[in-house]
Amino acid sequence: MNFEVTNNLINEIEADLELIIIVDKNFKHRFVQDKKLLNKAGFSAGQDENYLFIDKNRLYVGIDKISSVNVRTAVAIAIKSLSPTEYKTVKVASYMNHPKCTAVIRAMVEGFKLGAYSFDKYKSEKAKQPIEKIIISLEDYNEYELNIEKCVIALDNGEITAEATNFTRDIVNTTPEDCFPDTLANIAEELAKNNGLECKILKPKQLREEKMETLLAVARASRHKPRVIHLTHKPKNPKAVVSLVGKGLTYDSGGLSLKPGDYMVTMKSDKSGGSAVLGIMKAVAEMNLPIEVHGFIGAVENMIGGDAYKPDDVLVAKNGKTIEVRNTDAEGRLVLADTLCYAQQEVQADYLFDFATLTGASVVGVGHYTSSVMGNSDNPKDAYIEASKTAGEFATKLDFNRYLKKSLGSEIADICNISNTRYGGAITAGQFLEEFIDDNHKDKWAHIDIAGPAFVEHTWGENPHGASGAGVRTTLRLLEKLAK
Ligand code: BES
Ligand code: ZN
Ligand code: ZN
Repeated sequence: MNFEVTNNLINEIEADLELIIIVDKNFKHRFVQDKKLLNKAGFSAGQDENYLFIDKNRLYVGIDKISSVNVRTAVAIAIKSLSPTEYKTVKVASYMNHPKCTAVIRAMVEGFKLGAYSFDKYKSEKAKQPIEKIIISLEDYNEYELNIEKCVIALDNGEITAEATNFTRDIVNTTPEDCFPDTLANIAEELAKNNGLECKILKPKQLREEKMETLLAVARASRHKPRVIHLTHKPKNPKAVVSLVGKGLTYDSGGLSLKPGDYMVTMKSDKSGGSAVLGIMKAVAEMNLPIEVHGFIGAVENMIGGDAYKPDDVLVAKNGKTIEVRNTDAEGRLVLADTLCYAQQEVQADYLFDFATLTGASVVGVGHYTSSVMGNSDNPKDAYIEASKTAGEFATKLDFNRYLKKSLGSEIADICNISNTRYGGAITAGQFLEEFIDDNHKDKWAHIDIAGPAFVEHTWGENPHGASGAGVRTTLRLLEKLAK
């Protein structure tokens, strides 16, 4: 799918189809030429409602008000509706909400690319996406004078962001038979080669030398050996240093605390955090952001077998803290504990974010579409939540408290890997991770539990069934802001 922005008037552009976004429910605006027909068809221009006039080659889609979020979703849903058609070129006017702000153009481009995504790797018949070219006219709905150069930058960044999100979606949707820790390491190496990133892969020997025994314990019963991946984007004179750490469980069976069958299905998505880090690193390199960004991924498979780690084991983490294992299904925090320690040893960062499908409790607490944001300090949490708003993702804070922290106490070790209460599981998981954050990073760290939005078994807005690429768009916005 190619994009073009042009100063040509919308009516002068040749295309198979015109996409018309309707903001005014009374169809008063001059872009709306089919008022009577739309009324007759019962089209009320509600948010995301769309109507295709085959005779006139016009596709109408409604939005409640002009905003990036509304345009992104509406455009995504509109483009999805075109998959059974033969239209190859689409033209659309720009719908700005501010004369100098190109955010809506970017959202539009993201909406087209995110909405056109489908995962057909395992289908005999591949999905059809007919649209080859999209022409955006700078003839504006609100008659603002737009600067074409700024619009082209918005378009480029929108394309990079959506492609990185789709790249992450592809990795997460891939089966555990086709995507295991070494596969993630190969993807990282390939990324590094093509995009000028540095890449270091730690195999079991180095992991033992680094004393990452909790990560190694989780990995033990799998025929796939673990990897820790470290990707680096290192520009000259960076404006900030940011570390991103991802949970990369290529499969989570629960281990000996085995998941019931219907809870195990979809656990290929337990690598969503690590896959998001890969997508973010790809985009950071393509945008060539003046920020030093480090991506760390703990890539492990959690399985059962004679060599499996067990409830009752006591593990020693990289920072020397001892952990009583009472549930092998709380494995993500064990893998992250060591990966976070390694990341902090390697890089003194201004911001440290970790991304993980860490708890079912996060999904229970905030629902399927929202990430839970935790940590000791408001600054990184607020930065993430603020960025999520323009990016079109949902994120909300869950506060730590000292009473819940006590529930992680162990009689025989420094800490237990599960809490002794049924409630507040997303927070206690975050507070477990807190034990592995050093004093230098306490105020720099935020933990993002993406268990809700990372993998959803229905389409929602611009997101498809399955992997959404949660965390990629928000983190890119955050990094772009730090780069300004
Ligand atoms: N990967 C799961 C969390 C998860 C659940 C992600 C549902 C996405 C959807 C994690 O490793 C896990 O199993 N957590 C346990 C923790 C419990 C044993 C304290 C959970 O949430 O049940
Ligand atoms: Zn688990
Ligand atoms: Zn898990």
